[in-house]
Amino acid sequence: MTETVAATDFFDRDAAAREILTQNDRGGYTVPTDGLYPYQWNWDSAFASLGFAEFDLDRAWQEIETLFTGQWDSGMVPHIIFHKPDPGYFPGPDVWGCNGPIASSGITQPPVALSFATRLLAADPEAGKARFAALYPKMRKWAEWFLKWRRDEKGAIFVIHPWESGRDNAPDWDDAMSKIDPQDVGYYERRDTQHVDASMRPTKYDYDRYIWLVQRAKALDWDDAKVAEDNPFKVADPTMHFILMRGLRDLLAAGEAQDLDTGDMAAQLAELEAGAQALWNPGMGFYDSYNCNNGIWSNALSNASFLCWFGGLDAPQMEQHLARVLDAAPYGVPSLAPFDPRFDAKRYWRGPTWGMMNMMIGEGASERGVALGEEVRKRTREVIGRYGFVEYFDPMTGAAAGGKAFTWTAAVWLAWAGKEG
Ligand code: DGY
Repeated sequence: MTETVAATDFFDRDAAAREILTQNDRGGYTVPTDGLYPYQWNWDSAFASLGFAEFDLDRAWQEIETLFTGQWDSGMVPHIIFHKPDPGYFPGPDVWGCNGPIASSGITQPPVALSFATRLLAADPEAGKARFAALYPKMRKWAEWFLKWRRDEKGAIFVIHPWESGRDNAPDWDDAMSKIDPQDVGYYERRDTQHVDASMRPTKYDYDRYIWLVQRAKALDWDDAKVAEDNPFKVADPTMHFILMRGLRDLLAAGEAQDLDTGDMAAQLAELEAGAQALWNPGMGFYDSYNCNNGIWSNALSNASFLCWFGGLDAPQMEQHLARVLDAAPYGVPSLAPFDPRFDAKRYWRGPTWGMMNMMIGEGASERGVALGEEVRKRTREVIGRYGFVEYFDPMTGAAAGGKAFTWTAAVWLAWAGKEG
């Protein structure tokens, strides 16, 4: 695809992206978007920090520091932190019933903040030294929590709720979700479909199971061991595995350079690298998720499959797959390969292209010498440049979808996609 975003437009787009971050700033933390997501979300916030780092490094650090104020004693950093009540979102703090230092959800999200904190440090090592050192033990504790509570016997990192992965309604969860019988879930009222067209959101079938899983864990008082035991939803996830691998690698390198206590991190990283092999689906020949309870593969070539490079793997076999999905989807990388019968171009994680996933895929690929990484960046620049800072895009037409004025799309523009190649 040839780029058509005119160079003269960059200033306006950069200014508009900064404006979105500023508008979504709630004082020390940034909401993903006004209305649909009115709290601090874990990985959205990490991307926000990268965006802020382009024009206000102090504010960028603050974003991650605020995120860690919600960290539980166990080391877990919640996926939502409910700093201020907002009736526009369901499920709120009462549904989760958690006892962290700040009202929060009880599950986590992909730990991109581990890597991105090291980027803030690199942007100005002198200014960031003390702030990084203060965060370091907390970040290590979060990584250790994953290894203790979210690792299966094959060494792969699993999730106990689709929202934990961040890819809410990906086909990766279909088998595990089908094993849940949510008939006792009770009445609840969704709020997401009051903000965004229902055809772009997860279905009621999904929502019943999302809420059922929250209710189950709440009844177990969010005890990590009990929640994982006999959980019908335990799925080994490339998103979590590769992002944690990347986080550990970046933390280890920065910790050594800063003379900080890196503990067992080198050994932990080696274990995760070995565990990545468990995610290789030999029948399909790509990285994939599987249901830990029965070993069934998702057989889903998703955008998470392509995070292998971001995780630090040399994965030459994945290059042909990336070429194939980019051929099929002009505005890729789609969240599911368009030639998969489960593909749905506008439904959230069953087809659309997401700027932040593209950033991790494109950057990771370029770092490992995969030429298509730059193509991913160009296409992301094209689609954001043409259709705006929305939540995600139809990968076939580029059409805007999901929430508007989205923090991470603006941040990805500033930190990566909108930069001159
Ligand atoms: C939602 O409410 O849709 C979120 O994705 C949960 O993280």
